[in-house]
This record gives sequence, structure tokens and C-alpha cells, in this order.
Amino acid sequence: MPTSIWTRHHVLSLADFTSAEYNTVLQTAASFREVLSRRTKKVPTLQGQVVANLFFEPSTRTRSSFELAAKRLSADTLNFAAATSSLTKGETILDTAKTYLAMGTDMMVIRHREAGVPQAIAAEMDRLGVRVGVLNAGDGQHEHPSQALLDLFTICTILDPDQPRLELLQGKKIAIVGDILHSRVARSNIWSLTASGAEVHLAAPPTLLPQLFAEFVSDDGRAGGAGEKPQIQNRKLFVHWTVEPALQDADFVMTLRLQKERMTQHLLPSLREYHHRFGITRDRLKLCQPNVKVLHPGPVNRGVEISSELMDNPQFSLISEQVTSGVAVRMALLYLMGSSKV
Ligand code: NCD
Repeated sequence: MPTSIWTRHHVLSLADFTSAEYNTVLQTAASFREVLSRRTKKVPTLQGQVVANLFFEPSTRTRSSFELAAKRLSADTLNFAAATSSLTKGETILDTAKTYLAMGTDMMVIRHREAGVPQAIAAEMDRLGVRVGVLNAGDGQHEHPSQALLDLFTICTILDPDQPRLELLQGKKIAIVGDILHSRVARSNIWSLTASGAEVHLAAPPTLLPQLFAEFVSDDGRAGGAGEKPQIQNRKLFVHWTVEPALQDADFVMTLRLQKERMTQHLLPSLREYHHRFGITRDRLKLCQPNVKVLHPGPVNRGVEISSELMDNPQFSLISEQVTSGVAVRMALLYLMGSSKV
């Protein structure tokens, strides 16, 4: 497996990922996908190592996917759930992490509702001089690198099942539609998809795609309707406050959940109104390329961001493939971090 260029001990953000690193993850995940198709779906790669899943925020697929990935690599896994932990007795997060360190943990997979917690734990591990790798499994509204990498793998696999690689996305149009304001998935995906040379079009109501975000990506700072101008140093990123221009001729459509738990104000008139204006339906997909595919990181609000019928339609929906790919991609990340040369 292609580990020679891998020097990353922690995976906290995709902001500084290189093309070579993306391709290493994609190739390594393809090898593990092959392992997962065998009768014996397990390899001894991380035998004797301990992977701790520290989820301070609820999760179904990401936590289970990391646990299965670690087990398929023969690691021992520790699972922590905030509600039943000593956090409820006043222990700090850093002390919880140090407790897991003292038990011989080699890698920590961390999710927290506050941005920056995985980074803080990684910095503490480095300060202590221990070789513990930290993987960000979602921090607040900041980043969710493993989700974006599994999305990338799913998309590249559709384009070339045998050799998924970044270059396949050059010139493709990808729409990201929904609650971008609260989405760490969108933020990580913006880094990876724009790095591939794809055109990324964001679409949401202005309350979920604020002016600040629009200004960040639109160099003329124009309000209303959208930025027609690409930027962030040659990255092709566009903003729309209606869905149609984002969907027009799109090759892939990524829908995002409305994160009601993070909405502190009334940001939408109603869910019905949102579905009416931004919901992804079979009818709306007629604007896209004929072989368009739809992704969603889950969990889904059926009938809100995507119609129930479309979600279950295997001709268009890649949602199950995303979940399946997730295990191979997370095996790749744990493997690469475990064998990093730095
Ligand atoms: C996402 C998350 O937690 O950021 N889900 C996931 O990890 N699969 C998106 C969401 O919660 O909507």
C-alpha cells in the first residue's frame, strides 16, 4: 500500500491536504474495499493497537463505522459515550483523553460539539511527546474530514471503480445544497472537491448561507442571487441563493441535513417551505446531467432536504454506498496514521 508519502500523524482538517495525500487515501481505501469483499474481511495490520472512539456528541454511522474499521484492522477498540462517562462527574475532556492515554491508546477518534476540541487534544498529545494519533470525527461546525474523504471516494468510485483518483473530478460540476451554515461536512467537502478541480456550487437560503460566507467566496462582494466569480486561489467555488443554478448540468448533488439542533433562531419559515424551494426531488434532478447521482451524509430528514422516493431510488441515490465506503476509507485513515513516518 502507498504509504511512502504519508507523514500525517493526526487528521484534523482537509484545509492543507495535498493532491498526493488525497490520492493515497483513495488508493488505500480501494485496497481495503477489496479486503472487505473477501470471505474473511479482516487483516492483522493494527493487531495489539488500541483505538479509542471518544464521541462527546451523538452519532450512529460515524462511530459505528470507525469501530468496525478498527476491528477489521484487528485493533482493540474502546468506546466512550459522554452521557455515561465521568464527564458527568466534572472530569475535563483533557483528563478523559489522558485516562485513555494511560491505558495504552494508540489512536483517538474524537467528535465534539465545539470546534477545536480534537485539535486541542492532538496538541496536548504532542506536548506530552506521545505518539498518539488524533482523528477529527466532527468538531462543531468546523470540519469532518473522514466524511468528506468517504464522499470523495464514493464519487471517484462511480467515475472509475478500479482506480478512484482525484483527477477524475476535473471539470465536473458538484452542487452542495442545504444547511451550509451549520455543516462541518460542507466545509471539509469544499476543501477536497475544490482541490480536485471540480466546480463546486453551494445553494441555500441566505439564512443558511450567510453573506459572510458569500463574501469569502465571491470576490466582488455582490449580494443577492449569487457569486458568478470563482476564487480561493484557483478553486472553483460559487454561491447561489436559489437551487436551480446550482443544479443546472450538475454531475453530483450533495444534500445536507437541516441541523435543527444547532439552529438558535428561526432561520426558516417552515420545513415545508424549505422543501418547496430547496428540496431535492426527481423533478428537480431534470436540470442536472442525465446520469446525476445524489449523496447525503445522513442522518436524513426524509421529505425535507430530499424526497423520500429519491432517497430510496438506487438509480440516483449513493447514500448506502457512502455508508459502505465509509468503513474502507476509515480503515485507510487508521492504517496510514498508524504507519506515518513522522
Ligand atoms: C454529519 C455530522 O455529524 O456532521 N453526519 C455524519 O457524520 N454522517 C451530518 C449531520 O449531522 O447532518
